[in-house]
Amino acid sequence: MLVCSCNIISDREIRQAITVLLREDPWRLIVPLQVYHAMKKRGKCCGCFPQLVDLIIETTQAFHRELDTPDCEIVSFLDRLRDRHRECETARLIARKRMEKIRAA
Ligand code: FES
Repeated sequence: MLVCSCNIISDREIRQAITVLLREDPWRLIVPLQVYHAMKKRGKCCGCFPQLVDLIIETTQAFHRELDTPDCEIVSFLDRLRDRHRECETARLIARKRMEKIRAA
């Protein structure tokens, strides 16, 4: 399934990139920019980021289930991951508003 129409990237390619990042560090808090950087791509319109965040969470959860990570550790880690994504999204929206103000001035 196509996830990013700007870069023509499928969910399968994204899951593979996330898995590579998790093999390097299973406890890494992965954000969309890290995934695209690993794929040598960049967000353009960033409209795919919400779906990318869902894929990061699903893939991270499946990865840790395969490692037999205890459920309580998975839940705690996914909560931290969701918090990190909220922080990133807030920062992205603030930056976008600032750019809109600068362009309007
Ligand atoms: S849809 Fe992915 S950057 Fe535009």
